[in-house]
Amino acid sequence: MSTTPFEKLITRNWGKPGSHTLDGYKKNGGYKALEKALEMGPAAIIDAVKKSNLRGRGGAGFPTGMKWSFVPRDSPKPKYLAVNGDESEPGTFKDRYILENDPHMMLEGIAIASYALDVHTCYVYLRGEFKKQAEILQKALDEAYQAGIFGKKLLGRDYPLDCYVVRGAGAYICGEETALLESLEGKKGWPRLKPPFPAVVGLFGCPTVVNNVETLASVPHVIERGAEWYAKLGPERSGGTRVVCLSGSVNRPGVYEIPLHVTVRELIESPQYGQGMPPGRKVKAVIPGGSSAPVLSGDEIDVALEFEALKNVQNMAGSGGVIVMDDQTCMVRALWRVARFYAEESCGQCTPCREGTAWQTRIIRAIEEGRGQPGDVEKLLNVVQAIAPYPPIGLGNTICALGDAAALPTHSFVTKFRAEFEAHIQEKRCPFGAGHHGWGHFGSGGFA
Ligand SMILES: Cc1cc2nc3c(=O)[nH]c(=O)nc-3n(C[C@H](O)[C@H](O)[C@H](O)COP(=O)(O)O)c2cc1C
Repeated sequence: MSTTPFEKLITRNWGKPGSHTLDGYKKNGGYKALEKALEMGPAAIIDAVKKSNLRGRGGAGFPTGMKWSFVPRDSPKPKYLAVNGDESEPGTFKDRYILENDPHMMLEGIAIASYALDVHTCYVYLRGEFKKQAEILQKALDEAYQAGIFGKKLLGRDYPLDCYVVRGAGAYICGEETALLESLEGKKGWPRLKPPFPAVVGLFGCPTVVNNVETLASVPHVIERGAEWYAKLGPERSGGTRVVCLSGSVNRPGVYEIPLHVTVRELIESPQYGQGMPPGRKVKAVIPGGSSAPVLSGDEIDVALEFEALKNVQNMAGSGGVIVMDDQTCMVRALWRVARFYAEESCGQCTPCREGTAWQTRIIRAIEEGRGQPGDVEKLLNVVQAIAPYPPIGLGNTICALGDAAALPTHSFVTKFRAEFEAHIQEKRCPFGAGHHGWGHFGSGGFA
């Protein structure tokens, strides 16, 4: 369990005047961590990030320090840092707020990471739709160049560092790290076979670290306050805080920075966060980590929103998107919504994903529209098996995890709410009738 009292890190400046400007950031202690990091040197920085138990916030939860240590320091090739700001997972909307409210926190993390990894060129890859965020980030970057933080010298040191903001064309697949690298190279965003992993063969064939926006915004806190302090904020194997996105059927949807012991139920019910459900509604199901995560039924929500806790219940913390469904939600329709997304976003490279995502969508749609046949539930589970054997944990048959992401929700919806699927087939209609919904709105209220 954590032994350090919780305090907000990533969102601590949100709402303060000028939080997105260099002046605002510096007023709140910004770029002190970079100064400290330059004194520490690369090896000590990587060691601190390892000891901090910082884990990737983009989806897989991979230990950040370990990833950094895979970069071959003696490679004569240039090394790159690619920042993943693609953020297209349904239910996930935190990185855009980090970029809007405090872009310098991520930029400071980028500068520290680059120095530690011997990177002189980095790219921030943003989802195509993030025009506003790209403009805010570019302004912040221009300020940082003018202040001598980026450019020919890194805070006055003989260390050139360039950073470029790149907008994609709005494709979910380009958030997958190797598709992102292909896209940065100007190619179609098709994931690459791994190994080799990007840390060894990445952008332009050179060693590359890919990290999420929130992961990099966490780095200054590790350096500023120390690895031990950061590690002790969380449980044994994950340090720090988490920024989660709460949406669906709750009174106060929004982006909340939470200590890692907060459970799904607490996030929904707490006056600090979701403030409960609309009057008379009960929790039927919750997706805890973005739409790729298996669904939890209403009696499974006393689980902490933390990597290991969710893994222990064969689920995942993913990208922090918590979607709440109430007792008026038709689970078939909700799954149809999720399945359609993956069928649309599959890049088509692997047959099980290309065919399977479309196939499962057709079956789910037929069930919802009253055209389901006896045996359709088994058929759905067979399609799941063909895309991602060994559900509920996946380990797919495809080059990247989009196949798993599409199949595992189907497996969990169908196994946990099977009676509802069967009722649709038997009654040859949706028992929820006209006007029902897949789930509540994806809104964002405040932040706390
Ligand atoms: C289909 C797919 C989409 C993904 N989309 C994103 C994304 O939008 N943002 C992100 O940070 N990671 C995304 N990921 C995870 C990345 O591949 C990668 O694990 C992550 O960027 C690594 O950064 P981290 O270690 O800091 O989390 C996606 C993965 C898959 C399979």
